Amino acid sequence: MDILDLTGIDLSKEAPECEPERQFYFIAKARELLHEKEREAGRKLTFCVTTFGCQMNARDSEKLTGILEQIGYVEEENEEKADFVVFNTCTVRENANQRVYGRLGQLKRIKKKNPHMLIALCGCMMQEPEVVEKLKQSYRFVDLIFGTHNIFKFAELTVVCLESGRMVIDIWKDTDKIVENLPSERKFPFKSGVNIMFGCNNFCSYCIVPYVRGRERSRTPEAIIAEIEKLVADGVVEVMLLGQNVNSYGKTLDTPITFAQLLKRIEQIEGLQRIRFMTSHPKDLSDELIEVMAHSKKICRHLHLPVQSGSSRILQKMNRRYTKEQYLALVEKLKIAIPDISLTTDIIVGFPGETEEDFADTLDIVRKVRFDSAFTFIYSKRTGTPAAVMKEQVPEETVKKRFDRLLTEVQEIAKEVCSIHKGTVQTVLVESVNEQDPSLMTGRLSNNLLVHFPASSSVIGQLKEVKLTECKGFYYIGELV
Ligand code: 5AD
Ligand code: SF4
Repeated sequence: MDILDLTGIDLSKEAPECEPERQFYFIAKARELLHEKEREAGRKLTFCVTTFGCQMNARDSEKLTGILEQIGYVEEENEEKADFVVFNTCTVRENANQRVYGRLGQLKRIKKKNPHMLIALCGCMMQEPEVVEKLKQSYRFVDLIFGTHNIFKFAELTVVCLESGRMVIDIWKDTDKIVENLPSERKFPFKSGVNIMFGCNNFCSYCIVPYVRGRERSRTPEAIIAEIEKLVADGVVEVMLLGQNVNSYGKTLDTPITFAQLLKRIEQIEGLQRIRFMTSHPKDLSDELIEVMAHSKKICRHLHLPVQSGSSRILQKMNRRYTKEQYLALVEKLKIAIPDISLTTDIIVGFPGETEEDFADTLDIVRKVRFDSAFTFIYSKRTGTPAAVMKEQVPEETVKKRFDRLLTEVQEIAKEVCSIHKGTVQTVLVESVNEQDPSLMTGRLSNNLLVHFPASSSVIGQLKEVKLTECKGFYYIGELV
């Protein structure tokens, strides 16, 4: 396949110049092209969007899905049966990249049999020049490659792809543009992610995110509130405010506003019942935010507060800008202000130079905080980050052993912490039918724990009072009150 590199090129003179109008023009155009393809195929054509990685990507995938549905593609769950496959990729750890290459390999075989098939790749991994080079060399059957900064251009790029029949590539290095009001199709009718900011300025030394998601940009409070009001009018009762570091929200706006002030304004939205947010950086978590959380009726009793390591020495090498003692003091303050708060975290094992003593500090902080749950990761070297060139990379064997020890500790504590709610009655948002047993519904507590209880599926999307009768380790069995 020929390659069409669009970086910096204006595609169509007739199309409106301003966004999102321009994308609506291309959605209409893509619809016409799709009709032609459907006539050739003698059937409707389908799409499948597969998401790798975090909640931010999940939200982006809802936007891609919204655009594909507006064009007229029909959703198909099995990517091997779909005519338009989109991989929204993640590159935070090397194994995320490997999974994408693996899945692409399988699709190559299938694409040979389906002449209508298109394959698009987007997301964080595409912001790495080595990845795009590798795709150009060895994955020539891919039709469209774009990145994190121009996801709003998906309709336009789809048109070029359909018209040219060539491999289309459009990667932007960075952007200060935020395009509002594009279509999006929610996975759940009753809850939704809402981006409040994009990018990250922290440059933790192990992390690739600031390089692939660019500099921090906040949406205006007006745009965020208008979006949430629209969602609520459409049946949403819970929102998850999304940003790499929500605590620094609003600092770069023309009229600066703090994250706590934004929360207060969102709390006023009538009909909205629950507010969640992620992720919080410990260095920026203000007293004002703790105060607002403590007094709020809508903000959930859950805080995801990545600690990454318990060793102040390693934290400094990670460029996290807090010490073990400062993190512990913050946790103390949170627990006093909000006694029923659930704390979850991310921990990296095997950061360059991590000694047995440093690791002991990580175990120690885990025992002191007693996290409700923790995501544990083996350090993954990301080319281009400062940590990748640090000496003293820890041998794989040592890391693996430490990882297993940490996981055991984290799980034992989480089980104990989870069990303290036994016998209480809690408000849950009923989210789905239980996968194993369709007579049970699955609901989420304010503190993010799940409970399974007998009920009919008519209660999905509602807030219900549920008694937690039995603790099963990391989740509960309950009954409607
Ligand atoms: N290696 C391992 N884990 C990482 N994370 C980010 N970068 C890396 C890396 N290079 C983890 C951090 C972060 C979470 C989203 O992913 O713990 O909080
Ligand atoms: Fe990565 Fe640190 Fe930014 Fe989180 S805060 S995205 S870990 S650089």
